[in-house]
Amino acid sequence: MVQNSRNNPAGAAQKHHIHGNVPMVVLSNVGMRYNAGDEVLHDIDMTLASGSFHYLTGRSGAGKSSLLRLLTLSHRPSRGLISLFGRDSSQLTSQELPAIRRQIGIVFQDLGLLDHLTTCQNVALPLKVARKYDHDQIDRHVRELLTWVGLGKKLDAYPANLSGGEKQRAAIARAVIARPKLLLADEPTGNVDIQMGEKLMRLILEMNRQGTTVLLATHDSDLPVRFPNPVLHLSGGTLSTVSPMGAVAAIPGGGA
Ligand SMILES: Nc1ncnc2c1ncn2[C@@H]1O[C@H](COP(=O)(O)OP(=O)(O)O)[C@@H](O)[C@H]1O
Ligand SMILES: [Mg+2]
Repeated sequence: MVQNSRNNPAGAAQKHHIHGNVPMVVLSNVGMRYNAGDEVLHDIDMTLASGSFHYLTGRSGAGKSSLLRLLTLSHRPSRGLISLFGRDSSQLTSQELPAIRRQIGIVFQDLGLLDHLTTCQNVALPLKVARKYDHDQIDRHVRELLTWVGLGKKLDAYPANLSGGEKQRAAIARAVIARPKLLLADEPTGNVDIQMGEKLMRLILEMNRQGTTVLLATHDSDLPVRFPNPVLHLSGGTLSTVSPMGAVAAIPGGGA
């Protein structure tokens, strides 16, 4: 277990808030189940400090996507506390939810591109929803980012006509284009070759350098070695902190 939010994480979040340094994410004693099934996650304690980068590792079926589903507020915990941006998620009203979700960039494992929209239109969505930019600004920005990830020739293609790797790049572009405070990426390099994987990792690391807090789920134990950052490891439904070289260790005060 990651013991970084000792006895009262809500109180800790409150204290940080006063000092203007709110952890992006705090989970305290969280459990999760699907319907009436057994808990797939239990006793999860985790703090993601503002500006941090963590990997979330674990075998297929360990619960990585499930944990991300809790953080995107698309699934409620069966117990425990989840706080996002200093707010207790159980206290958020349905009016507040969209504004909170807009601060979160998500790369879904199944990518989640909308089939009836072109690459450009898919990637432009978060900027349109933000209502801060005019049409020309959005268009320029979207084309620039898509060209950078090598999709300059696929701007007007529909997802059905993109390869797996191309869809993955479009999904990452959509997740980062509005510069979210928190980026949750579920196996974002799973469908691309090593070179494109490196390029996408550099994009995500650069977002992090510029202040975005990142949690990146991967079953690829090589990534934390190639791009060293702290690892949160899921196994048996619980979380532990792992050094990049693979030794399991509960690090007091770690994980942030
Ligand atoms: N929608 C669902 N309904 C019921 N069980 C699910 C659902 N999604 C995932 N699970 C179960 O939860 C566990 C964790 O799955 P998941 O979070 O997808 O793992 P990972 O992303 O690490 O591969 C697995 O046992 C899986 O079968
Ligand atoms: Mg998964």
